[in-house]
Amino acid sequence: MRAIYPGSFDPFTNGHLDIVERALKVLDSVVIAVLNNSSKKSLLNLEQKIELIHEVLQKYGNRVEVESFSGLLVDFCQKKNTYVVIRGLRAVSDFDYEHAIFLMNRKMYPEFETLFFMSSSENSFISSTIIKEVASLGGKVIDQVPDAVNRKLLEIYPGK
Ligand code: PNS
Repeated sequence: MRAIYPGSFDPFTNGHLDIVERALKVLDSVVIAVLNNSSKKSLLNLEQKIELIHEVLQKYGNRVEVESFSGLLVDFCQKKNTYVVIRGLRAVSDFDYEHAIFLMNRKMYPEFETLFFMSSSENSFISSTIIKEVASLGGKVIDQVPDAVNRKLLEIYPGK
């Protein structure tokens, strides 16, 4: 089975990596769908996000594809002939939001399903927002992001 893993990935963290790697244990392949949303301010542009995710996941070869999407996730799913989406759940606080978007997506696309993977305890506090804040203020995030992402963050926030 193939599933879509959608997200902003600004940037891709070890939390995202953990979800992809665990999903690949039960699925044949994963399409990482990077949201292309010009109205949302992001640190990395779409090309940078895609390049980094490719670099981090290249060892999985054709079991992982990286694409961008804009507009509705359900439209992208239909375009890819897939009705299964993967999302990670870090804590109970993620549940309400995920539940609401699942129900809305299901209204628009009745076959739609979401597979939830629970974050490992060492990743359960990681969010892209926290990573960006710490990196921008000179803190180390080497244990929370893949090497390629850490190098890019050091390029953006040098002199740390
Ligand atoms: O990594 P994120 O920011 O939590 O990912 C959120 C994402 C990209 C999955 C969600 O915002 C999304 O699906 N956006 C596309 C627009 C859409 O379909 N919206 C309806 C459901 S909220």
